[in-house]
Amino acid sequence: MVQDGAFDDLKRQIAGLEGIDPARHGTWAMDTRLVRGYGGIDGATGALSVPIYPSATFAHPGYDRSTGFMYGRCGNPTRLALEDSIAMLEGGCKAWAFSSGMAALSTLLKLFDPGDHIIVGDDLYGGTYRLMDQVYARFGLEFEYIDATDLSQVRRALRPNTRALFVETPTNPMMKVVDLAGLSVLIKEAGGLFIVDNTLLTPYFQRPFEQGADIVVHSATKYLCGHNDILCGLVVIREPALIEPLFMLSMSEGGMLSPHDSWLLQRSIKTLGLRLEKQQQNAFELVGFLKAHPRVKAVHYVGDPDHPGYGLSKKQASGFGGMVSFSLESPQLLKSCLGRLRLVLYAESLGGVETLITYPLEQTHGAVPEELRERLGINDRLLRLSVGIEDPRDLIEDLDQALSV
Ligand SMILES: Cc1ncc(COP(=O)(O)O)c(C=O)c1O
Repeated sequence: MVQDGAFDDLKRQIAGLEGIDPARHGTWAMDTRLVRGYGGIDGATGALSVPIYPSATFAHPGYDRSTGFMYGRCGNPTRLALEDSIAMLEGGCKAWAFSSGMAALSTLLKLFDPGDHIIVGDDLYGGTYRLMDQVYARFGLEFEYIDATDLSQVRRALRPNTRALFVETPTNPMMKVVDLAGLSVLIKEAGGLFIVDNTLLTPYFQRPFEQGADIVVHSATKYLCGHNDILCGLVVIREPALIEPLFMLSMSEGGMLSPHDSWLLQRSIKTLGLRLEKQQQNAFELVGFLKAHPRVKAVHYVGDPDHPGYGLSKKQASGFGGMVSFSLESPQLLKSCLGRLRLVLYAESLGGVETLITYPLEQTHGAVPEELRERLGINDRLLRLSVGIEDPRDLIEDLDQALSV
């Protein structure tokens, strides 16, 4: 607990607590912001790359004077450059970078008190479900899982103690699309916070604050990093009112991103647009192949005009991304396919330059109860593809040989 008055002292001392200045980036388009929007160009040397400051503590020039930094848990210049960058890309006012997506979510959930009711879109990353259901439910938070594609279900779930609505879109792994603007109206009327996990589309394709979200979270391990080489998570807020409580929680918990990983993530973000465009282009190619394959029974990709969420996707996002899930004709085929793939890697994650295939039932969504998994369609025939940037002809050839047993 921060003592009375102590927070004001910290606030004076710690850089970045006032949030970013949106005017700094003028009218730059997203591609320009990705490459040049960060604030790290070193004034003294002209170095383009944000310096890595591996200092755990920061010396003060004198009594009651500060460089803006005091202790690495509360703020670090490399991390701050990254945080400002993601806040700017999402159109928020402030961000915090954590050592994983789960660390980000865990700190965020501490905004709530025992007895608070949180409505959650039911098709979501299994680890998020586990964190809510097996950890925070024990501390008295009440989670209710509903199909957030259906606004009437959300309306019915609202209660006097509802404090937030949490969704992913597209959902993971069933690739459903939820109506961000519609949901935001409902939760605002109830006085709750609207939290969106924007991991799958990133601000390059989707900016939930423009649709009324209050908080955006990321597993930056995925597309923002894009190279399967760091774990990181982000929380971004739209309004300054949440700066104090989230700063207090983040520095109290201490799950922040290291200076080195902050630098690496900042570097990765510069190529986000190029990577995502190629991943999306490849996804279209693979979806065409999968839809035509006789042993593939269903393909879920939000960029497919036959997908029920296609129209909504086009309205609220500027792209469809590189995530695809599909159902095979039998569990036997699924297992043999996983064993035969040579180029596509059978691994648990998404968003990187390498194409990965995941078996959600046993991997990412193992923690989701069977009844909910069955209802959603997460079964022993479903596979999820995170499409990379390889030549699509090689990917198709590999999938083809793996499915032709
Ligand atoms: C949509 C989504 N949110 C959050 C997470 C958790 O992130 P991390 O693995 O970086 O802790 C994941 C991980 O797969 C995810 O897919």
